[in-house]
Amino acid sequence: MLILGIESSCDETAAAVMRDDRQLLANIIDSQIAVHAEYGGVVPEIASRKHLENIYPVVSKALEDAEVNLEDIDLLAVTAGPGLIGSLLVGLNFVKALSLIKNIPFVGVDHMAGHLLSVFLGDNAPEFPFVALIASGGHSSLFYVSGFQDFTLLGRTRDDAAGEAFDKVAKMLGLPYPGGPEIGKISQQGNPEAIKFPRSWLEEDSYDFSFSGLKTSVANHVNRLKNKNEPLEVADICASFQEAVVDVLTQKTIRAAQDKGCSTIVVGGGVAANGRLREMMAGACDRAGLNLAMPPVSLCTDNAAMVCLAGFHQYTNNDSSPLDLDVYSRSPHLMQS
Ligand code: KG4
Ligand code: ZN
Repeated sequence: MLILGIESSCDETAAAVMRDDRQLLANIIDSQIAVHAEYGGVVPEIASRKHLENIYPVVSKALEDAEVNLEDIDLLAVTAGPGLIGSLLVGLNFVKALSLIKNIPFVGVDHMAGHLLSVFLGDNAPEFPFVALIASGGHSSLFYVSGFQDFTLLGRTRDDAAGEAFDKVAKMLGLPYPGGPEIGKISQQGNPEAIKFPRSWLEEDSYDFSFSGLKTSVANHVNRLKNKNEPLEVADICASFQEAVVDVLTQKTIRAAQDKGCSTIVVGGGVAANGRLREMMAGACDRAGLNLAMPPVSLCTDNAAMVCLAGFHQYTNNDSSPLDLDVYSRSPHLMQS
């Protein structure tokens, strides 16, 4: 089965072509980062307009790279949510039009399901069941995953998502958007022990996350130094902030796996591209005797290959989606714990 997948939930217009659930033939990602960078974050209205401009060339390039025609495609897969409504509508309506004109079935998939399954696009496919941490710009969530479509939410962020905290702290420090990769880079020159930023563990049995207190603590630290006209040790602030985020993400994920009796941990989402998170999680899993599986760094951030994979499993286990399928900003079925 040849699948054309399309992703447009935020600021990446992406298209991929995949054969069944394993052979990735094309993976095109057109990022709007440069457009949004001058505003310090994604501007939804601009994002939708950019998706409209980009979607046709991105899809054409994916078909060209895969050396296939639209007539060869057996299934269309598209992100239906969660994400920015205007951006999602561009992808979904493009796919609906293709489906109608070419008589190809389509499935609307959940973006989080894509992130959860992206690990299967790499070389170290995990075995079920596993506990998965998805940390991105919109989510910091822990799931118990027992099959390709069986996800149970264990915990989620109560305020800022991990990636959002990276982006907001970067903005405070005058670093460009998106802040995550930037802070990751600068942290290599800093001392992670320099500033003792707080870790929010919440209740003892909770798998939820909270990063707004940490963000405020960084803001207070920065303002204190500025008011005293003291120099900002940006690398130390970055490294100490990153360490606090990564510490909580790692420890909570390990505890969830142990509590649930899972021997495998999966980490995905944009923040999974963070070198320190990958390093700390690997060390902690090693000490706890747990297996760790992560997607390749290039497939941690938004892409359409993960949409193809989620679409494959949804179509083979259920059916295609109806033409009146709508987009959604939050995942209703993934939000239940
Ligand atoms: O999964 P993703 O591409 O989009 C969403 O679904 O949100 O994640 C984007 C987020 C951004 O907040 C970005 O700052 C963060 O992932 N990110 C990182 C790194 N690369 C991307 N955060 C920390 N370290 C990185 N290397
Ligand atoms: Zn994402």
